[in-house]
Amino acid sequence: MEKLMIRGGRPLRGTVQISGAKNSAVALVPAAILAESEVVLDNLPDISDVAVYSEILKELGADVIRDGDTMRINPSGLLSKPMPNGKVKLLRASYYLMGAMLGRFGEATIGLPGGCNFEPRPIDQHIKGFEALGATVTNDHGSIRISAKKLRGAKIYLDVASVGATINIMLAASRAEGLTLIENAAKEPEIIDVATLLNAMGAKIKGAGTETIRIEGVTQLHGCRHSIIPDRIQAGTYMIAAAATRGDVLIDNVIPKHLEAITAKLEEMGVEVIEMDESIRIIGKPEYNSIDVKALVYPGFATDLQSPMTTLLTQAKGASILTDYVYGTRFKHVPELTRMGANIRVEGRSAVIEGSKLNAAKVRAADLRAGAALVVAALTVEDGITEITNVEYIDRGYDRLVDNLRHLGADVWRESDPASS
Ligand code: EPU
Repeated sequence: MEKLMIRGGRPLRGTVQISGAKNSAVALVPAAILAESEVVLDNLPDISDVAVYSEILKELGADVIRDGDTMRINPSGLLSKPMPNGKVKLLRASYYLMGAMLGRFGEATIGLPGGCNFEPRPIDQHIKGFEALGATVTNDHGSIRISAKKLRGAKIYLDVASVGATINIMLAASRAEGLTLIENAAKEPEIIDVATLLNAMGAKIKGAGTETIRIEGVTQLHGCRHSIIPDRIQAGTYMIAAAATRGDVLIDNVIPKHLEAITAKLEEMGVEVIEMDESIRIIGKPEYNSIDVKALVYPGFATDLQSPMTTLLTQAKGASILTDYVYGTRFKHVPELTRMGANIRVEGRSAVIEGSKLNAAKVRAADLRAGAALVVAALTVEDGITEITNVEYIDRGYDRLVDNLRHLGADVWRESDPASS
């Protein structure tokens, strides 16, 4: 195990390139197994969740070759195998194997997913969708077993606009007989990305990105080449880090439209944001206004940026209130920020954040975005070195983080952490 060491106090300056999106990649890699021939994915992020997923596909019999940012997946030799344990437990998005295997083989047995457990994360809407398509779903000692003699299109209303359930149902329904309608579908850009890949494979999906998605099932899907959209959460994290360190950073290879909510909130605080076609420049200021932030489903402010935003709000004058309407208890970063001198009170699903100066401390990343919050915090500390343990959580979602931060002038390095081995 390793820890991240940060000597802060330097404004970030320069340009950072944003990789492909984690939450697209972890759906697109399993989606590839629905094809009968090779799928090539470009702009793939270099993160551990993608590495684990490619190992899972290899265990299932697919040929997977990674060359830089490109991955070639040939699923023609894939076998229908139960995956109750092992690598599927390492990542949350292993639930996409349920929809993909169901679509391909009419059956799937997958261990309940692991990953970032910042709060209980049910999958009842995924299961409701599979059942509506004609599958039988049982829980067998911690594994979900799903099988269907024939998948048939259906009308499915999601009780919550779940990203995972929307994608999982699209995966299975693309190979069902007839028309599937997903109502109250999630509208995140990653859903459009998955639909774009599936359509390039020969699926017939319309309406992705709106609340109603129509999927006309097809009997076969074929290989294709697809480039993954930029990671809006990584981009947002660098925007926040640039503002928090009073830096000046050009965040390149982004879709500014996907960043509208974070852009609006930074501007409200007094950060200068300059939008270009495929990049955004952030110019930090000495003083920031306190603001209120509500994390909501897209196009609202992303819950995945809520934790790093908490850190930025410690740099504002006065009290800010941040409320998470997606995950009501996603506040594992708060006790660690408090160790660093932050003054934050959690009340129900809100955090009340008073402006305060942060100091160096030994802290622990409790999950991916909590880790990102601590990185931003450490970068603002003027004296001393902050140690962040459990860095493997951060490796799940931030492509080349240390290299990128160094390139922006930060004093960051990794050290082995015998205490956590
Ligand atoms: N929900 C249910 N039942 C379900 C599914 C979800 O009640 O069957 C609830 C959840 O408890 C939550 C809300 O619906 O309150 C939204 O959950 P969603 O299903 O949209 O989340 P997810 O698909 O499991 C993805 C991202 C998360 C991100 C959320 C919300 C992936 C692999 N994960 O999770 O990303 O926080 O959407 O935008 O796409 C991260 O990147 O750090 C991360 C956790």
